[in-house]
Formats: sequence, structure tokens, C-alpha cells
Amino acid sequence: MDARDRSWDDERADTPEINVRVAHSARMYDYYLGGKTNFDADREAAANALRAFPSLFTTARENRGFLLRVVAELARRGVRQFLDIGTGIPVEGRNTHDAAQAVAPESRVVYVDNDPIVLAHARALLTGDPRGATAYIQADLRAPESIWADPALRATVDFTEPIAVLLIAIMHFVPDEQDPHGVLARLTGPLPAGSFLALSHVTHDFDPVGWAKLVSAYQEAGIPAQPRTGGEIEGLFPWPVLAPGVISVAQWNAPVGGSVPGAAEVSCYGGMARKP
Ligand SMILES: C[S@@+](CC[C@H](N)C(=O)[O-])C[C@H]1O[C@@H](n2cnc3c(N)ncnc32)[C@H](O)[C@@H]1O
Repeated sequence: MDARDRSWDDERADTPEINVRVAHSARMYDYYLGGKTNFDADREAAANALRAFPSLFTTARENRGFLLRVVAELARRGVRQFLDIGTGIPVEGRNTHDAAQAVAPESRVVYVDNDPIVLAHARALLTGDPRGATAYIQADLRAPESIWADPALRATVDFTEPIAVLLIAIMHFVPDEQDPHGVLARLTGPLPAGSFLALSHVTHDFDPVGWAKLVSAYQEAGIPAQPRTGGEIEGLFPWPVLAPGVISVAQWNAPVGGSVPGAAEVSCYGGMARKP
């Protein structure tokens, strides 16, 4: 169903679980990516955010590109199990299992999001290569124990083999008062040696005033958010970051010879680390 369709029946869509009258970060991000799973409340909040930082479309597009490149790189390094937390609304042909299974069809992916709208679209995520597997869990990053204990995860993931945890454009929704370092310690503690963490995160390094306004726009929509400096983002990794370091997502493993937008325009850093 096309969410932009004016014939869309808000009364039916507006279940206790899925409230179309309140902006959701997943649907605002879908809007930045040019998707159709967004409603008036999401687009109004997104318009306020875009007034504060007009290149958010670029940020979203480049971040999604980073997601696909980092997953492909992890698969080339031999990783066959991925835990993608903060999945977002599926993007046709541009999801974690698409990137992983293009390199290794036997890859297994567990998706996790706490937004019921993502659950409503999860079927599109569960269509991977039959030689691999995909699963979806509705859970909250801030309760990592519930993710590790979930039967769907236990059925999909082998704890004797490395696992890549993906936190792509989600940690900026865990402000300092919600103890991001504690969350990361509890999330990464159970991982076997040789596992990876890939993370991307928006930054106010280049435009502190614009990002302060953007944070206010999200807060007004009921979504707490916190951009961080490059140093703070690097400090979220519990293990040493691998080359090329924590850099603009647009530049990370960018195709040789292509032109990429500048770091300020993107204002989002990414990197990956390996558990010793
Ligand atoms: C900006 S989107 C990123 C989507 C995708 N990872 C990407 O980078 O293309 C952030 C996603 O994180 C989810 N999210 C935010 N806070 C969360 C939490 N505490 N637990 C689980 N998911 C969360 C939102 O619902 C949304 O789908």
C-alpha cells in the first residue's frame, strides 16, 4: 500500500501499535531515502529537520551506501552471521541480506528493530537466498539481553562462529543519559572472539548550530537524539577500530574513481572493529 496515497484510511492504519499521527524515526529516514512508507506526521517532522540541516537526503543515502559496503566487506572477510539492529524499513534490493548473500549466499541475518512499522514490513526482509537464512525480532537495543535470549536468534546464529553486529545510524538515538557505553558492553560481551562491530553515527562536528536545531526538531517530534563528535563516536567502539578508521561514511571503502560528497555535507561517520 502506498503511504502517500490520499485514499489511505488513517483509521485502519492507526492501530495501537502503529500510530500514523506521530512521527517515527524509521519512517522519517524512509522519507529521506525517497521511500513511500511515511505519513504526514513523519514528513512534517522531516521538513523541520531538513530546514535545520538541508543535506539530510545526502546523509541518508550515503549512510545506506556505507551499510551495503561494510556488509559486503565483512562477508569478504568470511563473516556469515549478521545481527542488524535498527534495521529500518526495507529498501528493495538494498538490505543487509542482499549485500551479504551477494558475496556469500549462505549468510544468515537476524534483523532487530523496536518500531512496529518495521515489523509490519518485515516480510520483505525474510525473502533471502534459501541457502542462507533471515529472521526478524522486535526488540530494543537498550535491552541487549532480550535480543541474545530470543529463540529466533538462537535458531539462526551459531555462537561458536564470529558474528557481525551492525549498529548503522542507531546509536544517535541512545543519548548519554541512556548509558550507550553500558548498552554496548552488554551487547558485545557475549560475542565470540573474531566477531565484528560496524557502526555509523551522525556528527555535529561541521555544523553545530544546524545540528542543535535538528536535535530540537526531533525532540519536538518526541524522538530523543544526540549527534556526537568523531572522537566520541570512535570511543563507542569497544575494540580497536580497523583501517580506514572512523571516517565519513561516504569515503569508507568508496569505489575508486567515483566522486563522493564532502564530509561536512554528509556529517555521518562510520567504521568497524574486530573483537580480539
Ligand atoms: C535511521 S534508521 C537506520 C536504518 C538502517 N540501519 C540504515 O542505516 O539504513 C534507525 C532505525 O533504528 C530504529 N531504532 C531506534 N532506536 C531503537 C532502539 N532503541 N532499539 C531498536 N531499534 C531502534 C528505528 O526504529 C529505525 O528503524
